[in-house]
Amino acid sequence: MQTETMGQAVLKSKGTARARAGHPWIYRSDVAEADGEAGDVVRVTDRAGRFLGRAFYNPRSEITLRIITREEEETDEAWFRARLEKALAYRESLGIDADAYRLVHSEADGLPGLVVDRYGEYLVLQIGSAAIEKRLDWILPALRDLGGPAGILLRGDAASRKREGLEVGIRVLCGEVPDLVVAREGPVRYEARLKTGQKTGSFLDQRENHQAAASYVEGAEKVLDVFSYAGGFALHAARTARRVEAVDSSGGALDAARRNAELNGLDNLTFTRASAFNLLRERSDSGELYDAVILDPPAFAKSAREVPKATRAYKEINLRAMKLLAPGGTLVTCSCSYHFSREIMEDTLRSAAADAGRAMRIREWRGQSSDHPEVLTIPETRYLKCAILERV
Ligand SMILES: C[S@@+](CC[C@H](N)C(=O)[O-])C[C@H]1O[C@@H](n2cnc3c(N)ncnc32)[C@H](O)[C@@H]1O
Repeated sequence: MQTETMGQAVLKSKGTARARAGHPWIYRSDVAEADGEAGDVVRVTDRAGRFLGRAFYNPRSEITLRIITREEEETDEAWFRARLEKALAYRESLGIDADAYRLVHSEADGLPGLVVDRYGEYLVLQIGSAAIEKRLDWILPALRDLGGPAGILLRGDAASRKREGLEVGIRVLCGEVPDLVVAREGPVRYEARLKTGQKTGSFLDQRENHQAAASYVEGAEKVLDVFSYAGGFALHAARTARRVEAVDSSGGALDAARRNAELNGLDNLTFTRASAFNLLRERSDSGELYDAVILDPPAFAKSAREVPKATRAYKEINLRAMKLLAPGGTLVTCSCSYHFSREIMEDTLRSAAADAGRAMRIREWRGQSSDHPEVLTIPETRYLKCAILERV
């Protein structure tokens, strides 16, 4: 087992307060001094020399330090293996009824910059910190021992890797990994494209919401799944509802949804390629009614600056969807924008309901699947919101 050499970092008072509040991210402007190289683990103190923790260090990154432990402990190979073991043990404790799910969720599992998704016998990694990339020689053997995968793929295609000084690209790290795999989510089977699909191949964070939504549309005559991708919600809904229409602007996504319907022997789905904004406006203007509408748009607000514009877009689609609901109908509405907070989303839905002239009962507020854990002191780990509303 190898060990680390240790650099030092001293925090200004704002950084110290942030570290003491339990947040792992320390911005460059809150660091008084630091020595070490990109990807090192450094010992972090306040200006008085009081120990605050050990952190991943990257002078190139705006988030210069990412605290990984608040204990005076060795962060050697065994330490990384123990963190991975803990993350895997947590997933095992959840009793997940699927063979594709998240094994490691970055900061929320104490491994900043490391995402590991399992798709059956394959693992797909996303790496967003130089420190994790530097320790792949420790991490890969541990993942191999713990999970025994047939292959491990690095989806290193996120542009954000450039900010950490990491190369952008997709490569197989060990074994063999095909692009296409068939995964299972409860009773539904679906194709995931590990090398070319969105995220690591699928929206695993919606897994529990897919199944929850289906329970609300049992026996529904007409369901509209807007922003459907490969049919995440539509396939589950089609098992319990009479007719489901999946809408997406991507032809490739709808082709996958069509193949997924076949894979599950479902013949009650139709597929429409359209802009969600146009389709929702046209259908609501023409007075069409549905028993359920599902909205799962891409993140409209990627930064705090984009929130006002995103709010208008979220309001528009939700207002239209509410108008489309028959009495007693269900709206499943999601946002994966961290900056569009639960509070702002609630206000936006209120305003949409008022303008649509609809009384909406709140049935449930949901979040991301439990394999994407949220940490109380790291608000950024809570990003996905899913409200289930009923037209009264
Ligand atoms: C968050 S993903 C949906 C995930 C899917 N609901 C699931 O659970 O697997 C968002 C989808 O919206 C589609 N999309 C983005 N902009 C769109 C637009 N203006 N109109 C229709 N679809 C759009 C994308 O192609 C993508 O498939």
